[in-house]
Amino acid sequence: MNKDVYILGIESSCDETSVSIVKNGCEDIATVVLSQMDTHANFGGVVPEIASRMHVENITLVIEECLTKAGMTIKDVDAIAITYGPGLIGSLLVGVVAAQTLSYIYDKPLVPVHHIAGHIYANNLTRKMEFPLMALVVSGGHTELVYMEDNYSFKKIGGTLDDAVGEAYDKVARVIDLPYPGGPLVDKLSYEGKDVYQLPLPLDDDTYNFSFSGLKSAVINLVHNCNQRGEMINKENLAASFQSRVVEILTKKTIKALKEYNVKNLIVAGGVAANSGIRNGLKKVCDKNGINLTIPELKYCTDNATMIASAGYFAYKLGRRANIDLKAMSNDNLK
Ligand code: KG4
Ligand code: ZN
Repeated sequence: MNKDVYILGIESSCDETSVSIVKNGCEDIATVVLSQMDTHANFGGVVPEIASRMHVENITLVIEECLTKAGMTIKDVDAIAITYGPGLIGSLLVGVVAAQTLSYIYDKPLVPVHHIAGHIYANNLTRKMEFPLMALVVSGGHTELVYMEDNYSFKKIGGTLDDAVGEAYDKVARVIDLPYPGGPLVDKLSYEGKDVYQLPLPLDDDTYNFSFSGLKSAVINLVHNCNQRGEMINKENLAASFQSRVVEILTKKTIKALKEYNVKNLIVAGGVAANSGIRNGLKKVCDKNGINLTIPELKYCTDNATMIASAGYFAYKLGRRANIDLKAMSNDNLK
């Protein structure tokens, strides 16, 4: 019988300090996520310097809390998986140094994980990923379609040419005076309104690329024009109209990609996978087209270390290792 493999994952790429222990890539033994969201909300967005300082204050406590929750010690884990990038460099550095230190002191392999690979592998916590598959990655910093023939074989077939979808959500939220991060609030508001505003369907072409800056600007212009005329904007209707365009273009291009690549498995990854309009919209088209759809549970959609430990397990199995000089990278291609 194969021995169970326990991976300790660490995630600190943005404003969540998170540590998790995952068994065999799919079973969440213990996870701790410490969000700094309330602090950054005072500034309307993540302040990198504050984020890294808070990671420094919290990382040791979060590691200890996770181990206590799991009833384990570092000696019981097989490897340490760490998000090395992309993300905020100061935030990443805190996690990377913590992981390097644990790996060195306890003589455990260090496994480097790309943050977006983490979001993709979060799906394993719901259902084992089956290949070939198409991954729709929708987060605060990424919007792309990725074709995967097997574990860690990432072929990006299209991506955003400007804003990421989460970024557009947050900017739309800001212009209608919702606090940061506004994505979930726009999502909620959209259910109280109707799609009545004439907004453009962005980059409705034959490629697998996306563009959200035009749609975002259309929303901002609409609000400004209304303000200038002294008219009230209906925020619920605006949220409904914006969300409707986003869902339409994402589902349209995703289904086209699945058909052209003859793929029957779709997974969704990233913070915006928590969006109910996208979840419902994809479910509807996947049911209609006989596609197996997997979307992570809400708690695994936004940043967390469970996904890093899961991705770390498959990387560990493939022999991926980093050594003590692993560098944090603010930008890096998915690999
Ligand atoms: O993946 P994530 O936690 O961080 C990045 O790696 O970027 O994604 C955060 C993004 C934010 O832009 C947030 O507003 C958005 O995900 N988000 C949502 C929802 N929940 C989170 N956007 C729309 N609807 C939601 N329900
Ligand atoms: Zn993320």
